Amino acid sequence: MQTHNPQENFHKVLIVGNGGREYALGLHLRQDSRIQELFFTPGNAGTATLGTNLALPHNQDIVEFCQSSSITWVIIGGESALVGGLSDELRAQGIKVFGPSRAAAELEGSKAFMKDFVAAHNIPTARYIQTSDPQKAKDFALSLPLPVVIKASGLCAGKGVIIAQTHKQAQDTIDSMLSGKEFGQAGECVVVEEFLSGYELSVFGLCDGESFTLLPPCQDHKQLYNDDKGPNTGGMGAYTPSPLCDQALLDKIATRIFAPTLAGMKARGTPFSGVLFAGIMVVDSEPYLLEFNVRFGDPECEVLLPLLQTPLLDICQAIESKQIARLPIRFRDGYCVGVVLASHNYPFGSSTPYPITIAPFDSTLGHICYAGVSQESATSPMLASGGRVALAIGVASTLAQARDNAYTIANAISFEGKLLRTDIANKALKA
Ligand code: AMP
Ligand code: GLY
Repeated sequence: MQTHNPQENFHKVLIVGNGGREYALGLHLRQDSRIQELFFTPGNAGTATLGTNLALPHNQDIVEFCQSSSITWVIIGGESALVGGLSDELRAQGIKVFGPSRAAAELEGSKAFMKDFVAAHNIPTARYIQTSDPQKAKDFALSLPLPVVIKASGLCAGKGVIIAQTHKQAQDTIDSMLSGKEFGQAGECVVVEEFLSGYELSVFGLCDGESFTLLPPCQDHKQLYNDDKGPNTGGMGAYTPSPLCDQALLDKIATRIFAPTLAGMKARGTPFSGVLFAGIMVVDSEPYLLEFNVRFGDPECEVLLPLLQTPLLDICQAIESKQIARLPIRFRDGYCVGVVLASHNYPFGSSTPYPITIAPFDSTLGHICYAGVSQESATSPMLASGGRVALAIGVASTLAQARDNAYTIANAISFEGKLLRTDIANKALKA
């Protein structure tokens, strides 16, 4: 008779979320022969092809499902579940989770907390104040050169940052945020900070509460239109590794930002475990922290995972046993580029669902990650149901070829109102 513990060799994994990031996580996990079953909640019409989608609207529903179905790992994709304490509720029942506790998720959940924390640990960041007093906020805004950055402290799904071009706009923004009209509770406190001019990087650290390993640097493209024009979005495309970040810069990001953050969070009794995402502005070769997110970026996750060779399950286990520093994290050589295909009302509103058609393409060029897609029934056509609909992911040995591959796939995907940037990775290719 075999004596092995089946739990060590076979896994049932639940992924929480419904975007391209969760699809990418599922696609990666599907390649791991130890995964017996994969579930998503709520998932999307794309994840339904990788596993089983479930409607589990409340934390308690998730906990009960994990218990009744012997789920061995829960991977939480997005910030709202983390800030809502899902990890803590699962861990309290002995269920293993990839993702930080509610207390550690405050690094993203409260920009006021984050800024005070980083200031207390001498982590380089923009000069700021955080306050609920409109007069104090305005006085500080008036003391700063233009433009001035105003942020709602709480979670706003990427919409809570305004770059005011005039002091009048700064004052009006402060009033409207603090009145609660625009962002409700999330705007009860604002952060006013100086504008930093440089280029942005997304840097991810796998953290086990004490140690961390940085992943290859990524660059996102936040604005809706080419040349960084138009409104901010969740991200219109990304690539990795970014040649705009050399080892010297990555070392500074490790020692000046990640090391003091992990030490500081541990010291206050809220160690950070999971993936910590630092949004960095590089000004004259020096890194400044713009924001922390307590989860993988979307679309950064979709470009990191195709190059990641170390199984995510091993990473989850190393984090759980506080051994992340000992696990070699291997990435394959080459580059990955992801181009977001959004629906015509993105990022302002929802769109009419339109059918998606996909022309055949050479699968060695890359693949599609599905995000804002739905289906009326398992046999009906997939619909572009709004927001960021899908990503075209190109992989190749050079950045230029990976970009070309991503655009070849992007051009193979059609739906009414398809919106995309045509300059993803151009900054790096020109540099
Ligand atoms: P955040 O959610 O704090 O990262 O802000 C969203 C976006 O606003 C960032 O990705 C930047 O493009 C921009 N941003 C935020 N803070 C600053 C700042 N202090 N200086 C310049 N741009 C900023
Ligand atoms: N791509 C930025 C984010 O996930 O917030």
